[in-house]
Amino acid sequence: MRIGWNVDLSGMNTFRMGVKCRCLVEYDNVDELRDALADPSLPRPLFPIGGGSNLLFTIDFPGTIIRCGMIGIKRLGPDRIHAGAGVVWDDFCAWCAENGLWGPENLSHIPGEVGASAVQNIGAYGREVRELIESVECVDTRDGTTVTIPALECGYSYRDSNFKHDWKWKYIVTGVTYRVSTEPAPVLDYGHVREAVKERFGTDDPAALTPSMVRETVVSIRKEKLPEVDELGSAGSFFRNPVVPSEVFASVRDIALRDSLGPVPHFDLVDGTVKIPAAWLIDKCGWKGKFHCGAAVFEKQPLVIVNRTGEAVPEDVMSLASAIQKSVKERFGIELNREVEYV
Ligand code: EPU
Repeated sequence: MRIGWNVDLSGMNTFRMGVKCRCLVEYDNVDELRDALADPSLPRPLFPIGGGSNLLFTIDFPGTIIRCGMIGIKRLGPDRIHAGAGVVWDDFCAWCAENGLWGPENLSHIPGEVGASAVQNIGAYGREVRELIESVECVDTRDGTTVTIPALECGYSYRDSNFKHDWKWKYIVTGVTYRVSTEPAPVLDYGHVREAVKERFGTDDPAALTPSMVRETVVSIRKEKLPEVDELGSAGSFFRNPVVPSEVFASVRDIALRDSLGPVPHFDLVDGTVKIPAAWLIDKCGWKGKFHCGAAVFEKQPLVIVNRTGEAVPEDVMSLASAIQKSVKERFGIELNREVEYV
């Protein structure tokens, strides 16, 4: 176990905010995590982070940041893979693709770690990680016991799980078991994934494709649209795509017609509600490329706020986010909820 005091967190959050934590603990196994949980000298609260890719530190953190150093990937059976919570998510995707295993390829190149994949129910290009999770291993923060929770009990929904709510301070995720497929199982029907695969490899025949081919295509799409967190600080999508009742969607359509905004992109959900891309709403409010001090709205994908100067402070990002929420509410009557967690 490694313990540091007054540690600079700028390398541990993808927004690159120059904040500090009072204490940082990195553990390499469950026993070390138990020791940390039982150690009264560590300042509270204890806050586990993964790659720091979905949060914004708003101030210096007064407690202990806990990081998982469990980085093993193990094949438990032909289609069952276990990964430690500290495995870099994209390393897991690469490992599966290299081993000819289908499942995570559409989720390639998402920043963060395996533990966060299970907390956040990460999703992209027609896949959500909950479809691949068999169970999640955790340590109970109250008594240090370990529990294995089946995916069905984790309360998964769009970018959400019990780990973000009722279980937030209760469980720390230490490992995840995924169920993947040894048979070809490409998911190509989101956006222009299929065309991109065809263009690159001359076929979309599942029997001719490998998970690596789909992975390569998805990585190239992401690189075109989204900032590379190594080059430009961000936390990916800042807001969730709003899901609204059909009457609200009708009113957005009326506004779009009145203001000649063109057709409103949308996805009809089975329960009669409608998902509208937040990127479109933000775009139509004129935010693309707009700055607020060091923070800016990414010009290629307005759902992403970036640390444009590399020197943005948390207030720059928070003010910009609030201004975006206010203008979308005023223009379209829709409340945008953050995907990024403020700490
Ligand atoms: N759009 C615009 N203007 C733009 C960009 C997009 O109007 O400048 C509209 C277009 O209509 C486009 C639509 O927004 O069709 C949706 O865009 P896109 O398919 O790129 O995805 P998204 O809804 O903006 C979601 C996830 C991403 C994920 C992509 C691809 C959320 C909050 N975000 O974004 O996840 O990579 O789909 O599946 O669900 C993340 O969570 O950090 C993330 C990047």
